[in-house]
Amino acid sequence: MKLKVLVVAGDGIGPEVTAEAVRILRTVAELGGHDFEFRNALIGGAAIKAHGTPLPESTLEAALESDAVLLGAVGSNEFNALPPDKRPEAGLLQIRQALGGYGNLRPAFAWPSLAVNSPLKPEVTDGADIIFVRELLGGLYFGTPREWNRETNSAYNTMRYTRDEIVRVARVAFELAASRRQKVTSVDKANVLETSQLWRATVTEVAKEYPGIALDHQYVDSFAMHLMNIPRNFDVVLTENLFGDILSDEAAVITGSLGMLPSATVGGKVNLYEPVHGSAPDIAGKGLANPLGAILTAAMLLRHSAKLEQDALAIETAVRKVLEAGYRTADLVRGESKQKLTTQEMGQKVFEALNEIIDR
Ligand code: NAD
Ligand code: IPM
Ligand code: MN
Repeated sequence: MKLKVLVVAGDGIGPEVTAEAVRILRTVAELGGHDFEFRNALIGGAAIKAHGTPLPESTLEAALESDAVLLGAVGSNEFNALPPDKRPEAGLLQIRQALGGYGNLRPAFAWPSLAVNSPLKPEVTDGADIIFVRELLGGLYFGTPREWNRETNSAYNTMRYTRDEIVRVARVAFELAASRRQKVTSVDKANVLETSQLWRATVTEVAKEYPGIALDHQYVDSFAMHLMNIPRNFDVVLTENLFGDILSDEAAVITGSLGMLPSATVGGKVNLYEPVHGSAPDIAGKGLANPLGAILTAAMLLRHSAKLEQDALAIETAVRKVLEAGYRTADLVRGESKQKLTTQEMGQKVFEALNEIIDR
């Protein structure tokens, strides 16, 4: 099959981890006889430096012409003083909006061989297999008006949702639950926020379309606690944009490292694939980044944009085997005397495992 992938590697560790994910995709193409075409484009700080804007028109055009967009990460300390709409992060928000995907799937899975890596007890993380459905185009991120008024020394953002925005993302969550453990937990702050009251009422209504799926509502504060206490109780977790941003990073504690988490954004013109982590300026350029989140993101790309489920599973199996064999990047070594692999060495291990898994 033919698949056009636009790679927007971005800043910091973005290019480092994306290179490994692309290598794995090329391997799948070669072993499976698929025709994947890769193009590269700039976003974030790299685009500001080259074109003065975090999302150049040429990047957006190339993205809209592709079958899938694979993004590394954006963000660089040198632009921290800029207003939100000029920063590298604005490029990410703009491409999300332009591609139109509203359902951001963020799985958090407790890999058994990484159990010692989580600060949580193994009996707590054991069996945890959660997927967050984070609404990606609404809420505080995009609501207007918004302003930092320097004269009055005050600032505000607008949290806004419409019923339609909630309905469409809720359906993504219920459809997913139907193919998993038939359970949706909707997370909100309906005891305080009108947007959350609309959220809760709408999700309850959508649930009626899915009589086989159990729906539970939780307030975001206590959910954050339950998530660490009994993660295996959750299957699909549906939530709005900012809550989903925060909770999905928290879920990295279950896995043991933020560098392990992939994501896929569906529902728009072109699906967008990005690891959950950022550009990690503290470790950028040192070969320390864990590429597995990006590699697992490549698996999600094959699953959701190419319908290559077997190849997606092959990548996930390769990652499992590499972890079972004891290979670790620095973020996965917690007081153990294991040898630390560089980003490229870890990519190489997955490459080797994949070659064994996929029959020529
Ligand atoms: P971050 O996710 O970049 O890093 C948080 C911590 O996790 C750091 O200690 C980092 O070293 C570690 N980490 C992250 N990914 C890792 C990996 N693959 N392997 C090993 N360790 C990893 O978050 P931050 O430090 O709060 O933000 C840095 C920049 O990234 C900011 O500019 C932020 O806006 C941006 N950001 C971008 C995205 C994105 O592009 N999708 C996501 C989050 C943050
Ligand atoms: C993420 C990031 C982004 C977000 C930022 C960089 C705009 O934190 O993808 O989780 O908040 O959505
Ligand atoms: Mn985030």
